Amino acid sequence: MIEQSSNIVWHQASVDRESIQEQRGHKSVIIWFTGLSGSGKSTLANAVNIALFKKGLSSYVLDGDNIRHGLCKDLGFSDVDREENIRRISEVSKLFLESGIIVLTAFVSPFRSDREKARKLVKEKDFLEIYCAANLEVCEKRDTKGLYAKAREGKLKDFTGISSPYEEPENPDLRIETGRKNLNECVEEVLAKLAQLQIF
Ligand code: ADX
Repeated sequence: MIEQSSNIVWHQASVDRESIQEQRGHKSVIIWFTGLSGSGKSTLANAVNIALFKKGLSSYVLDGDNIRHGLCKDLGFSDVDREENIRRISEVSKLFLESGIIVLTAFVSPFRSDREKARKLVKEKDFLEIYCAANLEVCEKRDTKGLYAKAREGKLKDFTGISSPYEEPENPDLRIETGRKNLNECVEEVLAKLAQLQIF
């Protein structure tokens, strides 16, 4: 059992989020992309990141496959490990939020309860859930990493959509049809939402 820290005190940030936002001229927010593997979360998050960069805004992508090479390399794909994965990412996202950055997270994040916990960690206005709504048929057909084929052959256990559940968002802030719309259209939908929320 890991001993929990008790004799610790929270330090206020020396430069607060409000001041950073004012200096940069835009707000920070967590944009949480969720969807099946191959639904286009990373592609869309990275394309939005480029668009924001071109506008001179500060943003950063936290991506499932990358984070699992470092911060979460001790975790697998059991329900418990996925919960811990999302918990860590939620906390990291909150730190980015406080640093004034627009955070784009691209994780399958299959469980509603974990996504809800991520949302509850920050204020309502600071969290935007975007459902990349490509269905299983489309994702499996794409199978860019060959993982669906492996899962069907039984060589990969607990694979989302095949042998592990994906709980669709019931009320996402934005639902994007990444299965049938082209990338530019999807990027424009995200940017329009950010503009509507007066992030920039
Ligand atoms: S999550 O469920 O914990 O949110 P995460 O987004 O970090 O998952 O990682 C998903 C990525 O890991 C997928 O895009 C895929 O490339 C890879 N992966 C490997 N094994 C699995 C699996 N069993 N289920 C889902 N994704 C897997």
